Amino acid sequence: MMQHDLLSRRTIGPKNILAIMALLLSFSLNLLAEPFPTSGYDFLPDDMKEIQDDDFLNPGMDTVDKGLMHFQDEEYESSSCANCHGDHGEYLNREKIAGYPRYSEEHERVITLQEQINLCGIEKLDRFPLEYDEDKLVALETFVRSKANGQIINVEVSDESRDFFELGKSLYNRRFGQMGMTCSHCHVQYQGIMLRGSKLTQGQTNGFPVYRIDSRQITTIHQRYNECFLQLRAEPYQRGSREYRALEYYMGVLSNGLKVETPGVRY
Ligand code: HEC
Ligand code: HEC
Repeated sequence: MMQHDLLSRRTIGPKNILAIMALLLSFSLNLLAEPFPTSGYDFLPDDMKEIQDDDFLNPGMDTVDKGLMHFQDEEYESSSCANCHGDHGEYLNREKIAGYPRYSEEHERVITLQEQINLCGIEKLDRFPLEYDEDKLVALETFVRSKANGQIINVEVSDESRDFFELGKSLYNRRFGQMGMTCSHCHVQYQGIMLRGSKLTQGQTNGFPVYRIDSRQITTIHQRYNECFLQLRAEPYQRGSREYRALEYYMGVLSNGLKVETPGVRY
């Protein structure tokens, strides 16, 4: 269902593809490029910036509130995330949150923030695993990430995590779909150019999960990847897949130096 919705809204027809290719070729030396990294926020018109900046106007704050509710929810074991991390998450490590995805010595792999939250639920609270990107996990992620707002993103790569980083990097630079385009074509070379009514940004991940004015939904990073794959007329990977988690890791490194801005507001 959802995929169909996306297709009808987002798919680019053959005529459009030619138009886009022509447009992109004409900008092969892009004078609109911002220095790297620049947040998607800086590409927004002023009225959208105001909505993101104002907690009362930002519709993404509803999801933050829902996340807080789940955070304090004692469910059946009469214990909750708040038991360890503080009633409003005041004992959460903000600096660490801004470093996800990060390598876990204990699990001997890179874990995303959603995976960390899920692991805490399973290991510390004896709860059932949540599915990747399911509403409850997304709300918790949005709440937890918003606690780190303003914190500088610092995603690290070590010897142990190098392969995973390289997988993400190769996906970012791989040609996909009929258009044979890579992520970096649109988000590095052609940033600043208008495409279908909105400005192409650097595709940074520092605002995620973001609230989308278009769909009136909170959107996760992996959901956004799906949309970009559909724009490329390429088969998307699964949300939570190794490929998407590796992309998220690589793109986390690309966002290093930017501030966490969850929930961002986007078209
Ligand atoms: C019994 C105590 C306990 C409970 C309950 C718990 N956690 Fe944790 N949590 C931890 C510990 C300990 C760490 C540090 C783990 C590490 O560094 O590998 C952690 C790490 C985290 C982190 C990474 C940031 C940080 O502060 O280290 C997040 C985010 C997090 N937990 C979220 C949650 C959420 C959401 C829940 C509820 C679903 C939850 N936790 C339940 C103990 C707990
Ligand atoms: C045909 C051009 C195109 C390609 C190629 C493309 N995207 Fe996008 N992408 C967009 C558009 C349009 C948007 C919405 C406006 C913006 O933020 O650039 C977007 C937005 C994003 C965002 C959200 C940025 C924000 O601040 O909200 C991310 C993340 C992203 N893309 C990742 C990717 C990844 C990963 C790939 C490669 C698999 C990719 N994109 C390939 C067109 C593209």
